[in-house]
Amino acid sequence: MAERSASLTINAEAPIELPVYPASVGPAVLDVGALTRQGYFTYDPGFVSTASCDSAITYIDGDEGILLHRGYPIEQLAEQSGHLELCYLLLHDRLPRPAELRDFVDSIKRHAAVDEQALNFYTGFRRDAHPMSIMCAVTAGLAALYHDAFDADDEGYRVDTAHRLIAKMPTLAAMTYRHSRGEPFVPPREDLDYAENFLHMMFAPAGGDYEVNPVLARAFDRIFLLHADHEQNASTSTVRMAGSTGANPFACIAAGIAALWGPAHGGANEAVLNMLAEIGSPDNIPKYIKRAKDRDDPFRVMGFGHRVYKNYDPRAKVMQDTCREVLAELGVDHDPTLQMAQELERIALEDEFFVERRLYPNVDFYSGIILKAIGIPVEMFTVIFVTGRTPGWIAHWKEMVSAPYKIGRPRQLYTGEDRRDYVPIDRR
Ligand code: SDX
Repeated sequence: MAERSASLTINAEAPIELPVYPASVGPAVLDVGALTRQGYFTYDPGFVSTASCDSAITYIDGDEGILLHRGYPIEQLAEQSGHLELCYLLLHDRLPRPAELRDFVDSIKRHAAVDEQALNFYTGFRRDAHPMSIMCAVTAGLAALYHDAFDADDEGYRVDTAHRLIAKMPTLAAMTYRHSRGEPFVPPREDLDYAENFLHMMFAPAGGDYEVNPVLARAFDRIFLLHADHEQNASTSTVRMAGSTGANPFACIAAGIAALWGPAHGGANEAVLNMLAEIGSPDNIPKYIKRAKDRDDPFRVMGFGHRVYKNYDPRAKVMQDTCREVLAELGVDHDPTLQMAQELERIALEDEFFVERRLYPNVDFYSGIILKAIGIPVEMFTVIFVTGRTPGWIAHWKEMVSAPYKIGRPRQLYTGEDRRDYVPIDRR
């Protein structure tokens, strides 16, 4: 693949030639393998400048605020496509023909139910267990139900596993919510689409009727679509790392759920609402902006900033429009939380500290406000993110295991003691 090479000279040593591989779009990469043979490692804590793999699924240009899924801009997909069509695109690198989409949707509907035995996973959790702890556990538990057939080398197994995970995640999420409320589980229905089914399983009274609000269903389809994939973020990299050992894909997705939980990543949507509650009033915003700028103060404006985007997160713009639609539909468009978020965004975007550091709202800044307005409890917000992100995770797992790959094994800059002899305790 190398067309060019870089030459690296360290001290007076002979130059080290590093092949340069071109990307189809965006930055080329340097193959640094030769450095190890010369006794060096690259040093890149947090992998800020490291390409861990090659992938054809998602492309992000952080400076320009561009997000493409298989080349299609997120803005066009949000406007003209739907969540399940995007899931197909992520898995199969092209848009489906009508019959293919129908078959895919039917397969997802068929796999939406969860094995009776999986219902027992929930009985071990207290009602107030954090929903993300439950989602980690029950998803890993599915590995026990689908382990015998595990064959990552078989395309049919890979596709079936992807369909099962995409189909079951909303069901597991809704069951997690209902467990927390002590309500009986409501099974999925094949006459409802993906987002409608999710709302039905979440909010329908057991055995009773429930009318799904089409505006809320469309909002959830959009929320799932916007969260579907995002290149090699922390949780997707975790799924790839786990998958590189040959682990069961359900366990790999559980590892991704664990990584997404953190407030610096997928937990930010929950943290945004907690932050807005802590700020309490628009009058307090300047005080908190001041705290965010103080290096000695751990306070950060949650939902702002991004490792890659140094421009407005294109998903945040679509999410803000969806937020306005939902609040208007629910007659809460003067929601004080939304007004405070918009005031916080206005002040931050005019503040030199944020402008200099190119800190903009990210996907999590507005999503929490929508979810709160719909009545989703704050601790369930990241579970919604899990449901949206599962297609991306399993698409990356499928892409990786479908081609030759190496087990992930980073090295380190060792800063500990050199060799020293053991000292018996009576001589210390
Ligand atoms: C997601 O990777 C992905 O793609 C993730 C995601 C996905 O779809 O998978 O997009 C989802 O995780 C979005 C991010 C959600 N997290 C938050 O909203 C939490 C708040 N954001 C920050 O924690 C932070 O912005 C991170 C963790 C997201 C990024 O951290 P970085 O890479 O350290 O940020 P940076 O290098 O751009 O920071 C530059 C400066 C630093 O200050 P200085 O050292 O220059 O003085 O900006 C500061 C940072 O301290 N900074 C912030 C800030 N984010 C960065 N200061 C105040 N508030 C913030 N939110």
